Amino acid sequence: MEIIRAKNYQDMCRKAANLIFAQLIQKNDSVLGLATGSTMVGIYKDIITRYSSGDLNFEKVATVNLDEYLGLPSTNPQSYRYYMEENFFNHINISPKNTYLPDGMCDDINKECKKYDMLIDSLGGIDLQLLGLGLDGHIGFNEPGNVFHKNSHCIQLNESTIKANSRFFDRIEDVPKRAITMGIGSIMAAETIVLCVNGENKAPILKQVLYGPIKPQIPGSILQLHNNLIVIADADAFKEISF
Ligand code: GLP
Repeated sequence: MEIIRAKNYQDMCRKAANLIFAQLIQKNDSVLGLATGSTMVGIYKDIITRYSSGDLNFEKVATVNLDEYLGLPSTNPQSYRYYMEENFFNHINISPKNTYLPDGMCDDINKECKKYDMLIDSLGGIDLQLLGLGLDGHIGFNEPGNVFHKNSHCIQLNESTIKANSRFFDRIEDVPKRAITMGIGSIMAAETIVLCVNGENKAPILKQVLYGPIKPQIPGSILQLHNNLIVIADADAFKEISF
């Protein structure tokens, strides 16, 4: 595991954007695994800035997102498809047909999950996976449980996750209760994983994820077993870890 200590949120975003930049310079047809959430907003902004100055080309890039809420159409501003378009895809020269998220409006959830896994396989797997961290240790929407789910699956969101994510919705009742998430298997199969964490409220869970026992009750703890995990966190998030 490589630890990169950022001064603050801005610094964390710049460092993460630099890693994406380096990835695309080395492999212009990379498959990027992407995440949503507030952590990622500044990272996408910084990547867009580098793109705008002519340093990046997304023509041959494909993206696969970690997750999507069930029951929200892509036109709903709270859907992750909408988030990705607003915060990233609409500002770069990526072809929409190369941007993938699970379909939150699918008729057959099991079929959609299988399709998503097959899609990731057909792309040749993920070169670089960006990850945020949930307050309960979730990655993607792999919530704490008794097992690590290998494949894409439908998940019942935890009360704490619903509460945390309700800040993006008008009312807590509007937060979907279920989502489709990429499984731990596809995440762990990525060549490189970049885990980005900021803020003091994530300090206790970050410590558990990086140095606690590896267990499905703390889904992110499995990242300790990855061969090429890069953790970029700001000083607040590293507060409980002594270097
Ligand atoms: C959300 C997403 C995750 C994200 C995490 C942290 O529920 N499904 O992919 O990493 O929670 O979100 P935030 O960055 O807003 O703290």
